[in-house]
Amino acid sequence: MNRREFIQRSLLMTAALMLPPINLAGDIVTAKDSLKWWQKTLVYQIYPKSFADTTGSGTGDLNGITAHLDYLKSLGIGAIWLTPIYPSPQVDNGYDISDYTAIDPAYGTMADFDKLVAEGKKRNIKIVMDLVYNHSSDKHKWFLESKSSKTNPKADWYIWRDAKPDGSAPTNWRSIFGGSAWQWCEERGQYYLHTFAVEQPDLNWENPEVRRALFDAANFWLDKGVGGFRIDAITYIKKPAEFKDGKPDGNDGMSAIHAATANTNGILDFLHEFKAKVFAGHDIFTVGEANGVAAKDLPKWVGKDGVFDMLFEFSHTLIAVPNEVWCRPADWKLTQLKSALDASQQATKNNGWYPIFFENHDRPRSVNYFMPKNPDKKSAAKALATILLTLRGTPFIFEGEELGCTNVAWDSIDDYNDIQSHAQYDFALNEGFTKAQALDAVHKFSRDNARTPMQWDSTKNAGFTTGQAWLPVNENYRDINAAVEDKDADSVLNWYRKLSKLRAENDVLTAGSYEILLADSEEIFAFARTLGNQKFITAVNFTDKTVTLPAEISRGFKILASTEKNPDAATLKPFEGRVGELRIKN
Ligand code: GLC
Repeated sequence: MNRREFIQRSLLMTAALMLPPINLAGDIVTAKDSLKWWQKTLVYQIYPKSFADTTGSGTGDLNGITAHLDYLKSLGIGAIWLTPIYPSPQVDNGYDISDYTAIDPAYGTMADFDKLVAEGKKRNIKIVMDLVYNHSSDKHKWFLESKSSKTNPKADWYIWRDAKPDGSAPTNWRSIFGGSAWQWCEERGQYYLHTFAVEQPDLNWENPEVRRALFDAANFWLDKGVGGFRIDAITYIKKPAEFKDGKPDGNDGMSAIHAATANTNGILDFLHEFKAKVFAGHDIFTVGEANGVAAKDLPKWVGKDGVFDMLFEFSHTLIAVPNEVWCRPADWKLTQLKSALDASQQATKNNGWYPIFFENHDRPRSVNYFMPKNPDKKSAAKALATILLTLRGTPFIFEGEELGCTNVAWDSIDDYNDIQSHAQYDFALNEGFTKAQALDAVHKFSRDNARTPMQWDSTKNAGFTTGQAWLPVNENYRDINAAVEDKDADSVLNWYRKLSKLRAENDVLTAGSYEILLADSEEIFAFARTLGNQKFITAVNFTDKTVTLPAEISRGFKILASTEKNPDAATLKPFEGRVGELRIKN
């Protein structure tokens, strides 16, 4: 190599070394700030109807959320995902929207919303909106027009089909909330498709005017300064070119619509357009509710070449109710839960980012679901929190989860508000289960379990409302509530605060890699997070017995946080959760 070549090569090598690193979302960043704001924070999901009522109406409102921002700040929350607050007939508690750019008067006014955004900003808390774009309410003016004739300007905004020659529905698809997915409309003389309830007609995404209207609505909220979007039921927006009957999978002779329409080819074209016309260029995050996206397809959905930043994927939440059939629950083992979560961690290692969650407004309480054999729900809540707040990804906490809230079990199906609980109950009876068995399934899996009012204090209605709460408060509110737990150093709430602080102060818990440990153990859930020469280990005992930890994860282990007062490095007490540090020798 001559001198000139040598200098050229040296220059090239220096340039290569100077190339800026790329962050996990695929953007070029400086090393110091290798993660985006939403990868370093905690998200808190609020079900506004049940959070805090400031008017005595019995329904929560926006001002109630603003009033509790400091509480959320104390938990280290950086974003609030609000389930829908738009005008809605409330057939599915707001997931049936009749106006995409307004606030339901039950929750307050647009001025209240602006105030919430502004007060949030002062505290570094962003507001994230729920976009329900697979369907609208049947009371939306678009649908009222669409159903009025076959020739009106919005005739093609929803999915209309003629009856079969015998007058029956175009296909045998069963909607997610039970019964046929087709509803006859006398006015128009055709059937319309509804993936969910009859009152939730599916929008026709093939129509560019529909897409434009939906994208405009999302941009309206971006202009208001929101911090991101959760995109509802997004895997259903593309329908197959041909509508065919499915193989019957129940006594009703119908076939679940999911099998026929979820993740239809071409869906990503719609979503790329969505990204280009709405999300691109904004400092926000997007998380899609994407039932049924296979791990191998993830790179197409999230990250640099995908459409969203994160995807809610449900494999770990389905372990006890495969296929979401509540009357046929499955026994499950800890290794199944670990491998479901491990698969999501592996899948998001290089593509996108993982939204970690155990609860949301569609799931029962995690202490009942994931630790059914632990009678002490306080220790169950702390043990689960240890995993939730130390896995790799952005933790999503559902209101009340941080208090260790539990399921309810009401006497009659009539006491339940949730539309899906009624559908599952009827399905169970139709499948030959007794009323008691059908109700037992509802007790275990009803969405109302998570929707009972937030437990603020020990006063009437748990401090949620001075009126008549829209859904009964859980009877245990005098023991489990924010005011009591705030003062108790040993509470679930203070355990969440402790872990949140640990996460904020240690980059290894956000930027570090993840590796499963003791993968075959049916007793211990353990994993390591590593960054440079720092290694943190989380270990949780899922049994009611003291278990011994293998030397490689107990020797030289400095316990940073444990749910036990006097933890022992070599063992885990029953249901103990701990986080510790192992020094790695250089
Ligand atoms: C999503 C929501 C759920 C709602 C459904 C229909 O799954 O999370 O609450 O019922 O979509 O919009």
